[in-house]
Amino acid sequence: MEEGFLVGRDLLSVADLSSSELSAVLDRAEDFKRKLRRGEVDQRLRGRLVALIFEKPSTRTRVSFEAAVYHLGGKPLVLHAGELQLGRGETVGDTGRVLSRYVHAIALRTFSQSTLEELARAATVPVINALSDLEHPCQILADLMTMREVWGDLEGLQVAYLGDGNNVANSLCLGCALVGADLRMGCPPGYEPDPSVLEKAWTLGGRDSVRVVHQPEEAAKGAHVVYTDVWVSMGQEGSEGKKEALMPFQVNAALLAHAHPRAVVMHCLPAHRGEEITDEVLDGPRSVVWDQAENRMHVQAALLEMLLVG
Ligand code: CP
Ligand code: NVA
Repeated sequence: MEEGFLVGRDLLSVADLSSSELSAVLDRAEDFKRKLRRGEVDQRLRGRLVALIFEKPSTRTRVSFEAAVYHLGGKPLVLHAGELQLGRGETVGDTGRVLSRYVHAIALRTFSQSTLEELARAATVPVINALSDLEHPCQILADLMTMREVWGDLEGLQVAYLGDGNNVANSLCLGCALVGADLRMGCPPGYEPDPSVLEKAWTLGGRDSVRVVHQPEEAAKGAHVVYTDVWVSMGQEGSEGKKEALMPFQVNAALLAHAHPRAVVMHCLPAHRGEEITDEVLDGPRSVVWDQAENRMHVQAALLEMLLVG
């Protein structure tokens, strides 16, 4: 692959990357992680500013982006939407046009995917999806990195997702399709991933790459990775009857017994302990959730480097 192939690009969806580009991001993230541990990171973002705009709360995304930019010698600017004119009705397009005159990249956490698309159309610098209602691509890149650390090659890896077919689930469908992993989505009827995302995943990885099943045990059976996320995502509070429908999909010791004997458990966090996952499993020996959280920083450092300087 040519050097600098990602420079100037946006990352609004996992599917904005080809499978070889995705692997290259993971390779770079592993390299960054190794170098950071040895204290050998080159300050490749020296003199560059990265705006991080949040329309929803965040712990990991905000701090891991800030830390990544810091380690690369750049400067992060955290901007809460309510403190910007954006919160008073200035369009996201105008915000993007103005910020592009000051900063070298913009990450946005927002509600609608179309807000990100509007920002990307107007901005002249790379735009990164820091979570929308439809997708959470940075999370899934970190998760694929974590799976690769545990299991090596991702092709043919059996991944089970249990719970709500939300933004994280959508991005996981696309990520698994791109790397050739075999994903079973265990969701109650009515809580499946977005239909257009499923179609896209099937186009990328073939019809068998992502299978939606309505029995939690069927999803978990033999899985190398068991993944879950919150039942109620930010901005979707108040959905009647949802928790009752999702209860059988809780990741607990009984469900985990159906998975591969060396299965690892993943959760993007924050967890709602006692809902989608039990304390016993989240804090247990199979849990790799803290590695996932750490890898957010490494993957985003790799991504920023590749989008900004090559
Ligand atoms: N996983 C994740 O994106 O966490 P935050 O909401 O804390 O950023
Ligand atoms: N699905 C969750 C992920 C949080 C990181 C949400 O959107 O709230």
